Amino acid sequence: MKIILLGPPGAGKGTQAAFLCESFGIVQISTGEMLRAAVSAGTALGRKVKAVMDAGELVDDKLIVDLVKQRIDLPDCRNGFLFDGFPRTVAQAQAVVEADISIDQVLEIDVPDDVVVERLSGRRVHEKSGRTYHVKFNPPSTPGIDDDTGEPLTLRDDDKEETIRERLRVYHGETRPLTRFYQERALGLGVRYARIDGTGSVGEIKQAIVNALNG
Ligand code: AP5
Ligand code: MG
Repeated sequence: MKIILLGPPGAGKGTQAAFLCESFGIVQISTGEMLRAAVSAGTALGRKVKAVMDAGELVDDKLIVDLVKQRIDLPDCRNGFLFDGFPRTVAQAQAVVEADISIDQVLEIDVPDDVVVERLSGRRVHEKSGRTYHVKFNPPSTPGIDDDTGEPLTLRDDDKEETIRERLRVYHGETRPLTRFYQERALGLGVRYARIDGTGSVGEIKQAIVNALNG
């Protein structure tokens, strides 16, 4: 199974990816997580992309496409994978087609901008695992502490209101056109496309995704 999760920042892509990957026995490929890991490890890639990410802009298409191609060649992707936050531009989507990567399902999680701002300003993350919480909507058992490891939770560097607004602007300009790209080509590409209303609770959205996959 090969899935693309589309949606604005804060739509809940990372949150819903966990159960989808578990259900299908596939791996989550979050380009954002891969880039953040490179930034915290201080690699050449990390040093190159940090300022771009902190500003809420997109990293260069070629760099991202190369990163993803290398990742899906690893043996753990044999059963399939879930792309979270990739592709994010029409050029990246075209690169997926050109590389003959056949996608089974595109799931768009649709959330309005004001909800995004509320979600991202309350987000807390466990940096090493990428586990995500929300102070109000999805709190950890102990405030500020990761449920699994007991380690402290942190705020993402790009979750400041000003940067969130810029990420939304970039989403509407660069990524939103992908919804049309996939809807129009679904038949030709052999992709199933489903749009999910992402404004309910985490559990409601999960159920809506299950329904869409079974429908
Ligand atoms: P990335 O890490 O992909 O960030 P993003 O797309 O902005 O998405 P987020 O991770 O912010 O949101 P999400 O949809 O995963 O929501 P989450 O589940 O956490 O990318 C970061 C940066 O890397 C980019 O800005 C760019 O610079 C670069 N980059 C990455 N990929 C790239 C690419 N392909 N090309 C170029 N550049 C790239 O949920 C958000 C919050 O809401 C959490 O607190 C959660 O607990 C809460 N929540 C979730 N669901 C619900 C719900 N139903 N109700 C209430 N709260 C909820
Ligand atoms: Mg995410």
